[in-house]
Amino acid sequence: MKLYFAPLEGITTYTFRNTHAEIFGHCDAYYAPFITPTDNEKLSLKTIRDITPERNAGVNLKVQVLTNTASAFFKFADKIRPLGYDEVNLNLGCPSNTVCKKGRGAAFLREPEALEKFLEEVFATTDFKLSVKTRVGFASGDEFKRLLEIYNRFPLELLIIHPRTRAQMYKGMPDMDLFATAVAQCKMPLCYNGNINTAEQFNSVCSQFENLDSVMLGRGALANPAIFREIKGGEPLVTDELLAFTDALIEKYIPLLGSDIYTLHKLKEIWLYCIENYPFEKKTAKLLKKATRLSEFRKSLDFLPKECQL
Ligand SMILES: Cc1cc2nc3c(=O)[nH]c(=O)nc-3n(C[C@H](O)[C@H](O)[C@H](O)COP(=O)(O)O)c2cc1C
Repeated sequence: MKLYFAPLEGITTYTFRNTHAEIFGHCDAYYAPFITPTDNEKLSLKTIRDITPERNAGVNLKVQVLTNTASAFFKFADKIRPLGYDEVNLNLGCPSNTVCKKGRGAAFLREPEALEKFLEEVFATTDFKLSVKTRVGFASGDEFKRLLEIYNRFPLELLIIHPRTRAQMYKGMPDMDLFATAVAQCKMPLCYNGNINTAEQFNSVCSQFENLDSVMLGRGALANPAIFREIKGGEPLVTDELLAFTDALIEKYIPLLGSDIYTLHKLKEIWLYCIENYPFEKKTAKLLKKATRLSEFRKSLDFLPKECQL
């Protein structure tokens, strides 16, 4: 069973991924957050900076594209081929308004005919391997049956299913019945994604669905970056590791982002998740939230107990 770190836009940058690989490891591949190519605009260097080989040496990186036009897909493929990539993951899950207004991400699920045509064109034209990361529908899970028929028509490398609709955003429970339908019907390898926050939850999904290719973890791995190790039978997370991880990120982000304040924002976003390991440390959680200086934020972390409380 392979374990993947989910793409988390704004958080799992190459800096984050490399630091995670160095300190925690045990993750079989990292999915980079989506890149949005457009038809008319050349992909800027800034856009692909996150996926260049020199910034990602030593990690198995999968690239994700957010588009609903085959022409933009081909331009994107041409741009990343020289970087050594021969596979792309298509984002059919992003629920954000700005993305959905343009018919991309989860909104592409609302247009099954257009999606089918897109996939036909992609498979007819390019030798790039394609995997898909999908939700089970836009407004309702009733849409999933038709979507599965479409996916089953194509030789997808992998189908990653986050069994929520766009309407659910990231809330509510993943629909395990719909996921079971996919397991029963899909011809391609399947990856489960959604709400795996502990090794126990991972084991429970794996025992329900024995033939999965892989499991992808997002917020659970942000909160507990050692979860991949734990799942593989290793030691649970301890505070010192989380602090070492934080210090390594601070050291790398300050020169990259050019200021303490931007670094503070990045770290605050990550610690929104990490603090879940300490449900009894309300005072420290408040200090972290309120910190206006990086030094103040870092000092507050020293109040945390040595052991995680979950
Ligand atoms: C802040 C944030 C950013 C995300 N960015 C992306 C992204 O760039 N591409 C993508 O496919 N999914 C993205 N997702 C969705 C996650 O990859 C994942 O599917 C979702 O969080 C459910 O898995 P989890 O319960 O393990 O977190 C994002 C989610 C969050 C919360």
